[in-house]
Amino acid sequence: MSIPSDTLAGSGSTYHANMDTADYAAHINTPAGRVDYYEQFHEPVLAHARELAGARRPRMLDIACSPGFELDFIPEDIEVFATDISPDILPEVQRRLGDRAMFFAADASNTALRPGFAAAGMMVNAMIYVPGQMLWTMFNALQPGAQCAVNFRSFNNPNNAVFYDHYLERGGILTEADLKVTDDVHLSVVGLDYRGCVTDDEPPKPDEKLQRLGTQTYLGSVGDMVTLVTASGFEIVSHEPYQFPSPVNPCNEVDVFILQKPAA
Ligand SMILES: C[S@@+](CC[C@H](N)C(=O)[O-])C[C@H]1O[C@@H](n2cnc3c(N)ncnc32)[C@H](O)[C@@H]1O
Repeated sequence: MSIPSDTLAGSGSTYHANMDTADYAAHINTPAGRVDYYEQFHEPVLAHARELAGARRPRMLDIACSPGFELDFIPEDIEVFATDISPDILPEVQRRLGDRAMFFAADASNTALRPGFAAAGMMVNAMIYVPGQMLWTMFNALQPGAQCAVNFRSFNNPNNAVFYDHYLERGGILTEADLKVTDDVHLSVVGLDYRGCVTDDEPPKPDEKLQRLGTQTYLGSVGDMVTLVTASGFEIVSHEPYQFPSPVNPCNEVDVFILQKPAA
């Protein structure tokens, strides 16, 4: 498989320049801190990793961890490696989680990880940035037979209209873009560009926190998600919708896949 190239800009490394953990919790629409999400999706992936690792301590990779709310639930027997492109947030996560995890700043498009080092992976709300590269980096880091849990928010799911409308009312812009998955496979995706977002003040001011989110990528259907994950080399173990309330939408719906790197 060739490495997919995404046409959308992403956030760059300054996502957290104006947003600490408290701001993040108040603004961002993620299921990361929900224990039922952990139990439904991350726990089975970790149970599988323990079987795979045998007597060794299983290693788990989290890409695009941000404040790492999803890491709060990981049991002590798992060795955690967590990474994000934005270096500003990592000291804060490290202070909260202490020695439980190793953190490093890296762009998922270009991360030097030992191939096959991890027995498990997780990416929560990560597919909104360079989704092809995120999947490819995870695939490369997992050992054969290992699993990861990955979620997507579909643009065309009616439950998510409130989410998009909230940002469009505050200066966000939607764009159409082509996501190149392989030379032969392209997906038509939606870009949500936050760079013109303004605050609710009167008169409105540039929203320095939201503008740092840059441009996010949203796939239009579950079929497109299946195309992307299978083109990245993964087998699909399961796919479930998951609903949760967030700061701007009382009923988001994400599609959560448990994926497996084929056994050698
Ligand atoms: C919406 S947050 C999700 C974080 C966290 N997993 C959660 O659910 O709360 C997206 C994160 O992706 C990071 N990010 C954006 N582009 C990235 C890239 N190319 N490589 C790695 N991380 C990236 C941002 O810095 C941000 O922290």
